[in-house]
Amino acid sequence: MSGPGPGRRAVVMAGAGALAAGVLGVPIAAGWRGRSSTGSELRSRLRLPQPFGSPLMIPPVLEPSATTADADHYVVRQYPVRTEIVPGYTTEVWTYGGTFPGPTIRSRRGRRAIVEHINELPVPTAVHLHGGVTPPEHDGYPTDLILPDEKWDGHDAHHRDVTVRRRTYEYPLPQRASTLWYHDHRMDFTAPAVWRGLAGFHLVGDEEEDALDLPGGDRDIPLALMDRAFDGSGAFRYPAVDPTLTHPPGVHPPYEAGVLGDVVLVNGRPWPYHEVDTALHRLRLLNASNARRYRLRFEVEGGDELPVVQIGSDHGLLPRPVGHDAVELAPAERFDVLVDFRELRTGTRVRVVNDLGDGSTAVVMRFDVTRAVADGRDVPDVLSPTFERLRASDAVRTRRMTFRSQGIDGKHGWVVNGEPFSPDSVQATVALGSTEIWELTADFHHPVHLHLAPFQVLGRGTGGPGPYDDGWKDTVDLRPAEAARILVRFDGYRGRYVFHCHNLEHEDMMMMANFDVV
Ligand code: C2O
Ligand code: CU
Ligand code: CU
Repeated sequence: MSGPGPGRRAVVMAGAGALAAGVLGVPIAAGWRGRSSTGSELRSRLRLPQPFGSPLMIPPVLEPSATTADADHYVVRQYPVRTEIVPGYTTEVWTYGGTFPGPTIRSRRGRRAIVEHINELPVPTAVHLHGGVTPPEHDGYPTDLILPDEKWDGHDAHHRDVTVRRRTYEYPLPQRASTLWYHDHRMDFTAPAVWRGLAGFHLVGDEEEDALDLPGGDRDIPLALMDRAFDGSGAFRYPAVDPTLTHPPGVHPPYEAGVLGDVVLVNGRPWPYHEVDTALHRLRLLNASNARRYRLRFEVEGGDELPVVQIGSDHGLLPRPVGHDAVELAPAERFDVLVDFRELRTGTRVRVVNDLGDGSTAVVMRFDVTRAVADGRDVPDVLSPTFERLRASDAVRTRRMTFRSQGIDGKHGWVVNGEPFSPDSVQATVALGSTEIWELTADFHHPVHLHLAPFQVLGRGTGGPGPYDDGWKDTVDLRPAEAARILVRFDGYRGRYVFHCHNLEHEDMMMMANFDVV
């Protein structure tokens, strides 16, 4: 099972050459240009549940199986579970540790987390810690698979480093306090595996964050947003070409631009409600959806709106808090925000609405203020005195990367610099410790994510950064026909890493490339 086999990849590469001139051009499916998300909505075939009918679930925090002086050890079994998501139905989900989302891992900066994953699912998996500054052999490279058994033969060509049944990932976490997440990353099949449930939070804390005395305990709430669709039996609907996720990959037309669902799940529950007290709360918002973008506002029943104070982005605290009327999140982005319920009376309800959704997706969840307490906590004026701003003058070079649609082997595909993903082809060789400017250009919405190296957004088009570009990022939300410039410092480790579009259907349909850190 090792070494590059004469699999589908070779065929695809040959086809790509022939079609590079764009025989298929830009196949714009009606309806996805100019929309707020790139993708097509799949409708559920059951009667949708009433919004605010289920309580919010907070994923359990995973207990270490062992701790040593400098490391916490964990074991996570990956296995299918039948669970009730839509009241009255059961849904099979693929889980990390039996819950959807998976259990939350809580780590400290500089203290290693060592996570053994055991694959009891019917297909190979690869676990990526999104946002982790991780050595390459532990980063969940898309061909570093955990096979379900020795006999697996599912056309997964190009195995780089395969294990059977189990694999131990080591995360040194030499990074700032931040909201990270882990999810499946198997080549060609990430989108359907994540859709089935393979995602969870991994939170990193540090002393700088502790010193702020931010809302904690029940008032520090991780919220993973995922849209899904269900069939009449309660199973997840997903337009996979091969529903066994063996071969071939991809989705049926017209979903190649991205799969959107009509049910919004927050931590695995449809449009949940959550009871809060009259206190300042910290919400760690994660867009874990395959393709959907959200613009969230907090509407107080009766008219007013609560402002949202952003304190952190993908890679931790901003230098100072930033106030917003709404928060816009592309897939994989995280926004750490404070929402202030202190002035509200008990009995007040606050709906989280989504300006980018229509109908059932225009609302996300509801907070119900049920208890009056005195909360003397306030939003700190300064969050991260040690925040380091990168300077464009430190960049040793500028590279251009384009993200656009292209026919691949007669089918719809998505490419980086005209090339479909291949584990053997490298788009950039960068020096460890160096800083570069990357100019990223898009045809449609493409949330572009770099592994290993967090970055800062220098500007969009001819202007400066957008309102949601602050802080250290690992994913930047490129909008149609837009170029964004990012400043990246390649600190961490040497080796091969991927960067890709985090619209997961685009990723599976080849919008991914390698960079080598040397
Ligand atoms: Cu969320 Cu390649 O990652
Ligand atoms: Cu990542
Ligand atoms: Cu994309």
